[in-house]
Amino acid sequence: MAHTQSGSGHIVDGEYLKQIEGARRDLHNLLKDNKQFAPIVLRLAFHDAGTYDASTKTGGVNVEVTGGPHIPFVPGRPDAPNQQDSGALPNPNGDVKHLRDIFYRMGLNDRDIVVLSGAHTLGRVHKDRTPGFDGPFTEDPLKFDNSYFIGLRKADTPGLVKLPTDKALLEEPVLRRYVQIYAQDEKTFFDHYAQSHKKMSELGFNPPRCHVNA
Ligand code: HEM
Repeated sequence: MAHTQSGSGHIVDGEYLKQIEGARRDLHNLLKDNKQFAPIVLRLAFHDAGTYDASTKTGGVNVEVTGGPHIPFVPGRPDAPNQQDSGALPNPNGDVKHLRDIFYRMGLNDRDIVVLSGAHTLGRVHKDRTPGFDGPFTEDPLKFDNSYFIGLRKADTPGLVKLPTDKALLEEPVLRRYVQIYAQDEKTFFDHYAQSHKKMSELGFNPPRCHVNA
């Protein structure tokens, strides 16, 4: 039986992966025909990982349909018994310290903070949900590319949104260096994004079963 290793180093059995693969394909097809839902599903993946309160049982988010990298993560994080309060998620008006508090708590690091923020290449801000801001982050909010980082280093463009937490990435030398790299090199952005997204999605994951006699 085939086995594979999750990012956390666990071995996962083949039947389980087959079921997940089916769910992943269904989700991919659904999103391919309904691209406009991809940003919200991606955002949900972040909220899910950040709060440990929702299920990934039916497969993982795949952003591939918007032009992003394929992310071979192994779903199966258990639901937490209690929903955490929304203070566990970043506040868009927060500063660098706030971002680090939130992401470090999730087990993520500086590179993860910057590269995952690149998900704001997709989607938009809604003024009813995020008072004071309204509009997409980039020119083409359904295309996954490195335009978020390119735009971040330029002057504000009327109609496009930069949240205080987006701008904060330029305020600290370590974070700013990653912004620069990803603005200049889309391939590195995709590679690092796939790694960090996998890491984020597998937080708290323990595989259901292992048939390997280690
Ligand atoms: C760094 C800290 C982050 C902050 C403070 C933040 C905050 C926000 C806010 C305020 C919005 C607008 C919500 C609305 O008005 O509908 C938004 C949208 C979005 N966020 Fe983030 N976010 C962060 C990181 C992330 C990460 C790590 C991901 C995924 C990996 C992500 C994916 C998205 C997506 C795809 C949207 C667009 C959703 C839509 O179009 O409805 N964000 N984010």
